[in-house]
Amino acid sequence: MKNKIQKTKMYTYHIKDMMFVGTCKKNHLKVALCIVFGIIALVVLIIPHVMTTHKYIHHRRLTRYATDLKYILFWSKSKHQRSRLALNKPSEFLPGQKMFINQKCPHINCYITYNKDTLNNAEDFDAIVFEIDDIIKVDVNFINLTRSPEQLYIFRSSETPEKHPLCHHDLDDFFNWTWTYKLSSDIPQPFLNIHYTNHSIIGPVTKMNWQTKKLKRSSSIASKIRHKKKAVAWVLTKCKLKTKHQDFIKEFKNEIRGYNYTLDIYGPCGKKKCPGGSAIKCYKMLEREYYFVIVLEEYLTEDYVTEVMVSAMSHLVIPIVLGPSDYSNFLPPGSFINVQAFDMSKLGALIDYLIKNPDMYEFFFDWKKYYYYTVRPRTQVCDLCTKLNEYNGSNVVKTNFRKWWDPEYKDVCQRMKLYKYFNTDV
Ligand SMILES: *[C@@H]1O[C@H](CO)[C@@H](O)[C@H](O)[C@H]1NC(C)=O
Ligand SMILES: *[C@@H]1O[C@H](CO)[C@@H](O)[C@H](O)[C@H]1NC(C)=O
Ligand SMILES: *[C@@H]1O[C@H](CO)[C@@H](O)[C@H](O)[C@H]1NC(C)=O
Ligand SMILES: *[C@@H]1O[C@H](CO)[C@@H](O)[C@H](O)[C@H]1NC(C)=O
Ligand SMILES: *[C@@H]1O[C@H](CO)[C@@H](O)[C@H](O)[C@H]1NC(C)=O
Repeated sequence: MKNKIQKTKMYTYHIKDMMFVGTCKKNHLKVALCIVFGIIALVVLIIPHVMTTHKYIHHRRLTRYATDLKYILFWSKSKHQRSRLALNKPSEFLPGQKMFINQKCPHINCYITYNKDTLNNAEDFDAIVFEIDDIIKVDVNFINLTRSPEQLYIFRSSETPEKHPLCHHDLDDFFNWTWTYKLSSDIPQPFLNIHYTNHSIIGPVTKMNWQTKKLKRSSSIASKIRHKKKAVAWVLTKCKLKTKHQDFIKEFKNEIRGYNYTLDIYGPCGKKKCPGGSAIKCYKMLEREYYFVIVLEEYLTEDYVTEVMVSAMSHLVIPIVLGPSDYSNFLPPGSFINVQAFDMSKLGALIDYLIKNPDMYEFFFDWKKYYYYTVRPRTQVCDLCTKLNEYNGSNVVKTNFRKWWDPEYKDVCQRMKLYKYFNTDV
């Protein structure tokens, strides 16, 4: 019996023991779990931190790479504006090196950014580009960038001074380079390319050197122009061109009416419609039927010769041009009629003479053996990188910038001031 009790005692003890063992085991498990959770929590807490510092190092504050990469900042007033810009012109000047590589530029060591935090200091950018749309709304004193004497501030515009006059006197002495459609820019960006027959781009440039050696005329031109019957056409792309140039057009119509010719106006505001409603088809039709085409730009200002000239020069029809541009930089000699070189009464006689003398008329297309025209993509950016690579570090400042942009800026700005004065006064 005693034995039995002892046995039970032992058993209870044993159970107790076991229970002890059990709780002991559970506690260990708890500790282990706690440690595991602790580690997980730590990792979860730390990872984002590690990642942000990672991002911080790689995306936000980049100190310059030790390469000869040229950093170009496209400045804009605000972040909001930047994103709007990116939305509006998705294809214009992609950030990074892409554009230079895609366009197979002679120099690709340039890097475009719209974010001034790309580099530690604004002074580290090799060049900062200011678009006219941004400059016009901002006093340059409020451009909060520290400027280094080595870096280049570049003025960029594909708009005309007539549309965007620049009056603020701080703009003189502000820019180092200009990048516009004007041929006198440091980086000229005309709207068209002139190619030599071997496809290399040879213009437009100031003091264009045209090939003038005579070659035998090809007979294909003669056969193509034989069917022309009508005198002069004008293809309108925008209605406002019609009102803008109405005085000239009226005078011109009167003059050629004296020779029993008419001016036919095609396009949205003309009496005649382009075949298929397309300007391209219009020029094909002009080539067959018309002797002359009027080429008028929206703004009659120096070097503003746009894509519409490419349409005219790519067909067998003589362009009649008007404007202060030195057309010898854009068009081969003997390929066009410049109204400004004639008085109106001689113009009618010339048109009549050329229509009645096909031999003479054909002379106007001799240049086609050497040259052809293409539209220059507005995103063409190689010249910027080339210019930055060729730059020898010498000091350049646009001291008479406003005068360069618009030789008549004094009158224009005076007028604007008066206009503002009277408009706020009323
Ligand atoms: C530059 O800073 C001043 C004052 O901090 C501010 O008023 C101005 O709007 C800033 N200019 C730009 C273009 O951000
Ligand atoms: C094309 O011709 C021009 C003028 O003769 C020359 O300067 C240029 O090097 C030529 N380009 C090519 C690719 O052959
Ligand atoms: C003017 O042209 C019309 C046809 O376009 C013709 O009928 C008329 O005879 C011409 N007049 C003169 C004076 O040549
Ligand atoms: C640098 O180039 C400009 C023309 O772009 C030239 O006038 C100047 O003399 C050159 N300076 C040096 C130091 O070579
Ligand atoms: C750019 O223009 C500024 C302002 O006139 C001038 O201080 C700076 O030296 C010029 N930079 C170069 C590289 O010519």
